[in-house]
Amino acid sequence: MDPLTVLDVDVRGKRVFVRVDFNVPLYAGSISDDTRIRAALPTIRYLVEQGARVILASHLGRPKGEPDPALSLSPVRDRLAELLGRDVAFCLESIGEEAVMAVAALADGDVLLLENVRFHRGEEKNDPTLAAQWARMTDVYVNDAFGAAHRAHATTEGLARLVPVAVAGLLMERELSVMGAALEDPHRPFVAIIGGAKVSDKIKVIEHLLAKVDRLLIGGGMANTFLLAQGHDLGKSLVEPDQLEIARALLALARQAHKEVLLPVDVVLASRFAADATVRVAPITGIGAEEMALDIGPASQALYAAAIADARTVIWNGPMGVFEMPAFAAGTAAVAQAVADVAGTTIIGGGDSVAAIEQAGLADRMTHISTGGGASLEFLEGRALPGVEALTKKGEA
Ligand code: 3PG
Repeated sequence: MDPLTVLDVDVRGKRVFVRVDFNVPLYAGSISDDTRIRAALPTIRYLVEQGARVILASHLGRPKGEPDPALSLSPVRDRLAELLGRDVAFCLESIGEEAVMAVAALADGDVLLLENVRFHRGEEKNDPTLAAQWARMTDVYVNDAFGAAHRAHATTEGLARLVPVAVAGLLMERELSVMGAALEDPHRPFVAIIGGAKVSDKIKVIEHLLAKVDRLLIGGGMANTFLLAQGHDLGKSLVEPDQLEIARALLALARQAHKEVLLPVDVVLASRFAADATVRVAPITGIGAEEMALDIGPASQALYAAAIADARTVIWNGPMGVFEMPAFAAGTAAVAQAVADVAGTTIIGGGDSVAAIEQAGLADRMTHISTGGGASLEFLEGRALPGVEALTKKGEA
């Protein structure tokens, strides 16, 4: 799937409807992380420079199809105007007369942000009547919301199919090309690092990546279920007994395909899930009945770092331990450092691993940090993303 991009179409003087993902975390009404707004700036700046009439639309949170003042995009408008260094108009409605008038008032190079599109029930239902209202205010549709590309909603999918030309924004293009190239034509060795709490969340990713990578490193709570599948005693650690068969099957698949799978050889243990718990390090054969594994241990860190060192492509999704608590953050930090030192393409596949990389102060040492959580996971599973599928393909316009 190779969609046209915003660089392939003439946008001067056109009403360009840009679906962005401004679903940013809010704390006490303020934006606590503006990464997603910054990530959309190249597309917005490009369109402004080209003299387009830029209409920005996004969701924020999950307002259940009704207006919710706590989920207004108004604070996003303020931050966006600050970052762009120019005025950004804001319309309290995303459809109807008010929105139509706000669009009509745009001059070439102006930017307008519409209110949260999820204030309308039809957005998440991909209602064609709602999509048609946005289509009437659109000459060119741009999807730059990679983070929402796994949703088939009215502004991410339905609308794209109602307009003559629907293209990818610069962020969307970068997300698809960097991750796509790593999956399709990686420089080798290709190492995937998969962590996080649960196997059940990552089965499809592991399955899909196993076929592509040379080595798979498993950490985090999900490693426990694999270790249990190998017959280890995990004490009170988080395990998913209903995933044991799947864990066994994945390990067998790896063996058949001659893929190296690394599991922790030692762990950081505590008897309570608490930041101030007393901790000790033990080999995985030495976990007490009342203990739980909350991070990979130093021997595993060294093992993983060595397995990462000669990689030419790395994809990482999910932390190695409970990195939010300092006592259990060393494993994730060691892996972050090893990935940062790789002379090759390093991709951080969204969600918690992004927070972990930022916590380690290594974000600027990575080739690409995805803005998608669920979307990057689905992409790494090899699934088609509805928001991408709906775009006009190269050669199709
Ligand atoms: C995200 O934050 O992952 C995207 O913005 C999608 O949000 P959603 O899970 O509420 O659809």
